[in-house]
Amino acid sequence: MDIFNKTSLLFVCLGNICRSPAAEGILKSMAKEKGIDNNLFIDSAGIGGWHVGQLPDRRMRECGYKNGYDFSSKARQFNKMDFERFDYIIVMDEDNYRDIKMKCPNGEYMKKVHRINEYFTKYKGEMSVPDPYYGDMADFQFAVELLEDACQTLLTKLSL
Ligand code: 4NP
Repeated sequence: MDIFNKTSLLFVCLGNICRSPAAEGILKSMAKEKGIDNNLFIDSAGIGGWHVGQLPDRRMRECGYKNGYDFSSKARQFNKMDFERFDYIIVMDEDNYRDIKMKCPNGEYMKKVHRINEYFTKYKGEMSVPDPYYGDMADFQFAVELLEDACQTLLTKLSL
């Protein structure tokens, strides 16, 4: 909770052009539909800085459009201040978890770091949102469906 009484959530993936900007867009859209978007601050970031300033990958934008979303955030790199700034830091896979842990200056901050599969309901049993970057459109669609499942659960779990 920040000075504006907002709960803040940061989605993290490797490049911040496929999975985490989709998570950001989906949660923003669901929160808006629920009328609680003013209570939340939602953002995304990448472990790496290769794509900083870029829109999400064209295939993910297209997949978003087909599913009724607009993924249009600009990529940025995760930085250590994010540990302070956010209440929830949600990573897409085990590699992301390990990378964030290596950047983390103390154990208290690690309590804010969550794996996305913690929030799977329909897809309980899946362990991550696999990186679709080297995959095909079916992989992008699967990522969106996993993220929709997690975002639905998040909104319920946070009882916002
Ligand atoms: P993301 O996918 O982590 O879901 O954004 C990737 C995008 C780009 C790269 C890797 C993963 N890359 O190596 O450039």
